[in-house]
Amino acid sequence: MLTKIRVLLTSPISIARVLLGRLCLRCRGVRFGSHLDLEGPVQVGTGKNIRLGDHVRLGKDVYFGAWTDGRLSIGDNSYVGRGTVILANQSVQIGTDCLIAPGCHITDANHGIAPNELIRKQPLDVKPVRIGNDVWIGAGCSILPGVTIGDGAVIGARAVVTKDIPPGAIAVGVPAKVIRYRADPPRM
Ligand SMILES: CC(C)(COP(=O)(O)OP(=O)(O)OC[C@H]1O[C@@H](n2cnc3c(N)ncnc32)[C@H](O)[C@@H]1OP(=O)(O)O)[C@@H](O)C(=O)NCCC(=O)NCCS
Repeated sequence: MLTKIRVLLTSPISIARVLLGRLCLRCRGVRFGSHLDLEGPVQVGTGKNIRLGDHVRLGKDVYFGAWTDGRLSIGDNSYVGRGTVILANQSVQIGTDCLIAPGCHITDANHGIAPNELIRKQPLDVKPVRIGNDVWIGAGCSILPGVTIGDGAVIGARAVVTKDIPPGAIAVGVPAKVIRYRADPPRM
C-alpha cells in the first residue's frame, strides 16, 4: 500500500520539480531547448549567456556561471552529472551527446599570479574551452583553461586535463595523458 502511494506521488512530484526547475532557469536567463531534464535544483551564477540544447539532462546541484560576456553552451543529448561546476568567463562549449560525470570542474579562467601583487586583485587570464561531440568525462575531472577535447574522446576519472586531447583518445591521470585510442584493436 505504502509503495503504491509512493509510486502515485513520485511521478507528479518529479514532474512538478522539473517544471519548477525549468522556470527557475528561465528566470535566470538560461535558454534551453526541448525536453530539458533536471534531477534536482541547479545553481546559476549568471545565466544570460547560457544555452542548452534539446534533451539535455542536468544532475542535482550542477553549478553554471557565465560571467560578464562569458558564453556557455551545451549541445543536444548531453548529460552533466551531479555537483559539476562549469564556469565561463569567455567561452566554454560542450558538444552534443556528451557525458560529464559527477563532480567535474570545467573553467576557462586562471587568476593572474604575478609576484608582489595580491592574486585576488589581478586580472583573470582567460582561454576558451571546447569539448567536442560524444565525449565522456569521468567522475571528478578538472578541465583547465584553453583545452580542446576532440570528438569521441574519453577522460578517465579524476584526470586533470591541461592540454588538448585528440579525437577518439582515452586519456587518464594528472596531468592527463593519452593511453590509447578507442579505435585501437582490443588488447589480448
Ligand atoms: C578511462 C577508463 C574509461 C579506461 O578504462 P579501460 O580502457 O578499461 O582502461 P584499463 O582499466 O585497461 O586501464 C588502462 C591503464 O590506465 C590506468 N587507468 C585507468 N583509468 C585510470 C584513471 N581514471 N586514472 C589513472 N589511471 C587510470 C590503469 O591503471 C591502466 O594502467 P596500466 O596499463 O599501467 O595497468 C576508466 O578507467 C575510467 O576512468 N572510467 C571512468 C569511470 C567514471 O568516472 N564513471 C562515472 C560514470 S558517468
